[in-house]
Amino acid sequence: MQIRNVASVGGNICTASPISDLNPLWMAAGARFKISDCRGITRVCPAENFFLGYRKVDLASNEILLSIFLPWNSPYEFVKEFKQAHRRDDDIAVVNAGMRVYLEEKDQKWVVSDASIVYGGVAPYSVSANETRKFLMGKHWNKEMLQGALKVLEKDIVLKEDAPGGMVEFRKSLILSFFFKFFLWVCHQMDGVASFDETVPESHLSAIKSFEHPSIIGSQHYEIVKHGTTVGAPEVHLSSKLQVTGEAEYTDDVPMPPNSLHAALVLSRKPHARILEIDDVAAKSSPGFAGIFFAKDVPGTNKIGPIVADEELFASGIVTCVGQVIGVVVADTHENAKHAARMVHIQYEELPAVLSIEDAIQSNSFHPNTEKCLRQGDVEHCFFSGQCDKIIEGEVLVGGQEHFYLEPNSTLIWTTDGGNEVHMISSTQAPQKHQKYVANVLGLPMSKVVCKTKRIGGGFGGKETRSAFLAAVAAIPSYLLNRPVKLTLDRDIDMMVTGQRHSFIGKYKVGFRNDGKILALDLEIFNNAGNSLDLSLAVLERAMFHSDNVYEIPNVRIKGKVCFTNFPSNTAFRGFGGPQGMLIAENWIQRISMEVQKSPEEIREINFQREGSVLHYGQQIEHSTLERLWNELKASCNFLSARKEVEQFNLQNIWKKRGVAIVPTKFGISFTAKFMNQAGALVQVYTDGTVLVTHGGVEMGQGLHTKVAQVAASSFGIPLSSVFISETSTDKVPNASPTAASASSDLYGAAVLDACEQIKARMEPMASKHYFGSFAELAYACYMERIDLSAHGFYKTPDIGFDWATGKGVPFRYFTYGAAFAEVEIDTLTGDFHTRRADVILDLGFSLNPAIDVGQIEGAFVQGLGWVALEELKWGDAAHKWVPPGCLYTSGPGTYKIPSINDVPFKFNVSLLKDAPNDKAIHSSKAVGEPPFFLASAVFFAIKDAIIAARAEEGLTGWFPLDNPATPERIRMACIDEFTKLFIDSHFRPKLSV
Ligand code: MTE
Ligand code: MOS
Repeated sequence: MQIRNVASVGGNICTASPISDLNPLWMAAGARFKISDCRGITRVCPAENFFLGYRKVDLASNEILLSIFLPWNSPYEFVKEFKQAHRRDDDIAVVNAGMRVYLEEKDQKWVVSDASIVYGGVAPYSVSANETRKFLMGKHWNKEMLQGALKVLEKDIVLKEDAPGGMVEFRKSLILSFFFKFFLWVCHQMDGVASFDETVPESHLSAIKSFEHPSIIGSQHYEIVKHGTTVGAPEVHLSSKLQVTGEAEYTDDVPMPPNSLHAALVLSRKPHARILEIDDVAAKSSPGFAGIFFAKDVPGTNKIGPIVADEELFASGIVTCVGQVIGVVVADTHENAKHAARMVHIQYEELPAVLSIEDAIQSNSFHPNTEKCLRQGDVEHCFFSGQCDKIIEGEVLVGGQEHFYLEPNSTLIWTTDGGNEVHMISSTQAPQKHQKYVANVLGLPMSKVVCKTKRIGGGFGGKETRSAFLAAVAAIPSYLLNRPVKLTLDRDIDMMVTGQRHSFIGKYKVGFRNDGKILALDLEIFNNAGNSLDLSLAVLERAMFHSDNVYEIPNVRIKGKVCFTNFPSNTAFRGFGGPQGMLIAENWIQRISMEVQKSPEEIREINFQREGSVLHYGQQIEHSTLERLWNELKASCNFLSARKEVEQFNLQNIWKKRGVAIVPTKFGISFTAKFMNQAGALVQVYTDGTVLVTHGGVEMGQGLHTKVAQVAASSFGIPLSSVFISETSTDKVPNASPTAASASSDLYGAAVLDACEQIKARMEPMASKHYFGSFAELAYACYMERIDLSAHGFYKTPDIGFDWATGKGVPFRYFTYGAAFAEVEIDTLTGDFHTRRADVILDLGFSLNPAIDVGQIEGAFVQGLGWVALEELKWGDAAHKWVPPGCLYTSGPGTYKIPSINDVPFKFNVSLLKDAPNDKAIHSSKAVGEPPFFLASAVFFAIKDAIIAARAEEGLTGWFPLDNPATPERIRMACIDEFTKLFIDSHFRPKLSV
């Protein structure tokens, strides 16, 4: 992805973006634009008259903007800027404003002699609040004026219910909030000026304190427990140098063979429709065109899918989502292929579409055979028995998340030997699936199809299955034309067609005692699968397994259903449903705390599972490190004093609030489909003593190859530099599971160790007979003795298995535990927030590589922070009527905001639990990739804690819902105050696509 910096102030003015940050300021500050025509004749236009309509300015076609005159402000003339965006940095405004007031002393009163109040983001162009300005003129600058001005302002700037961009209530609130802030700020500027009598109380100053970003401080604490030459050492990621210099090769960097073609997709534009006619005449005559292919052209099967083949490679008659692939075009260049694809015209007959989980529930739209249930104890009986002091019901909405791997999906595929074999290089977590899909759609045996992956620029679950259908799409033209084809998706296409983290709805009924002890949970969860099953059932199941998080619940019933909706198929994403299940749990925990008026931490503690606890699916807790982690974290973050300081701050500040939270997690390690817990490896020792390892796992940045190479190096007693892992390839290690479920270092580490041990056993007679100065000498001597120096290793996870028929078993080999503390600050008037501090602790046993593991924790936490507080997918649905039905509005970095560097917690401390070996995995380590993701929910609950303090100012002390993600919109609207009350009642819930 390239983002270019081509911008100028003049360009920003003349493009007249409705959310330009500068234009309201030029207008408010009284700037004058000097304009010249092509003959050099100039004229001057005040900025406030320059903007005429949507992207329309007072500039003739023969005129340019020559210069800007910005007047000095006089004494007692004040100019101020305001902006609120989704993300604090590098984001366009939701609403912004420029305000100016010129005060004059008249009869010992400070009155307005001139003013200018201008907003962006509230109309098709930057607009002046003219009525407000009129009102202000001559008024005494005091509270009475403020109240009057707010009333006028409310009517002055009008936003219609269905205004493009949505968030109408939020934007209306911001209009008033900004003016209020301006009022206070001017009063504060005037503080001490003779006869100015409007003083700002200390506690109100919080509304106008400007934000300062301190430098980020991070710390990492771990103990090094070495095993052999390198296992346990904080080795640097093996390809980090190539990656930071930009030299590391990814699929799209691979030079294309001569005669190659570029592919582009022909996509559905309707969420549910019958295809009436496809007109590809114009496409066929567009420049560089080489071929176009549809369902009828597929030589093998057109039906695909990782578990159930319920998807079509190319839609043949009916489309079930916007972005579904209907055909593929190939041309000489990427641009020409895209152009030709756009030239394909399709006529549809539209059919009713299911565009949310609620829609699906209403219309009974579920994927077949996906109803699941887990139970323990007797929920009904417990509710009925009177043991519960309170029984509450509620609903948790959890939004989805885009993977936003830096490298979009990409495949280069070609035939060899006259079309008899097919080879591809793909960006995927599952080369074996690429091999299988391509073999299926071409009607070839798997033995003639090879997929290789060197490394990928992030996958996060998004390239576990969805990448494979793209490879299969590219295979069709390559095979039929006998030419190499490359398909690399543009960012927007990737976001629109390849699916995301599932949105979820959880409906809970929970019974508990007044001391906070949970007695019964009756839970129904639904996930939004989209238009094919993909991995959605497994995602739902993991959510069900994680619906207890770390709490002991004597009576449980969890029902799950997978919703069929007319959206692109949702898929795996770091945590695989686990985070959604746990977030729902922490929501009712937080609710119980408010119901019984205890802190959430107390509720958590008294409900912790303990050694020997039997979980709702029958697995027993063994070697739990939960309480150790919890207590260590509580001590190291000084939780009690942190809470006291926050309370103190909140007493002193009305418009800024702080909050804290501390959240635990437990993540089950193993694929819940037992057969997938197997791994193969190929280890080859060369005569110079260097070792080439190939295993079934893919390097996606998580450091798998580094850890696995460490295992091989320690096994042979050689330095890490003697071991190399080049790529993952289906012809070296067959039938590999996708690299997923965080278990890859457990699985491939063990498989490689098995292979190394086989080779060592063969070398042993030689090694014990003679003295060798080096491993190279030994290897050479073995070779001369005709000893096989190559071995295939294998590992299968022992002692696991789960039976859905009984709902009992041992789905997980072990659990990775963790806990996190977070402290946030919110601006209650705008919803702005930042994380002041986060402390994360994980139990990773004896870490194979603590440097990589710390990186995984930091990365997962920040990615999780995006999920809980920043990233919001907006789809064309009932909640977003201004977006065409079924279309993704947030299809690029302009509208979809992942965390930036400035969203990293200001203080970010990561530590690994010491002295906690795990005998269930390789060299006593534990899996790390997904478990820390959920810990970012500490930020979410800290935000909620801050909002609680804000609402208390209004006398609101009851529980309230906060949906995920807690974006500035949700934060602002939950902080009910005199401004929001004008637009919403206390049940208001900002719209969310789920
Ligand atoms: N780290 C990086 N840098 N890039 C990724 O794509 N994916 C995550 C996690 N860490 C990912 C990552 C996900 S979803 C999983 S399941 C694990 O890595 C997979 O790798 P592992 O099994 O080796 O932990
Ligand atoms: Mo990770 S979601 O299991 O690829």
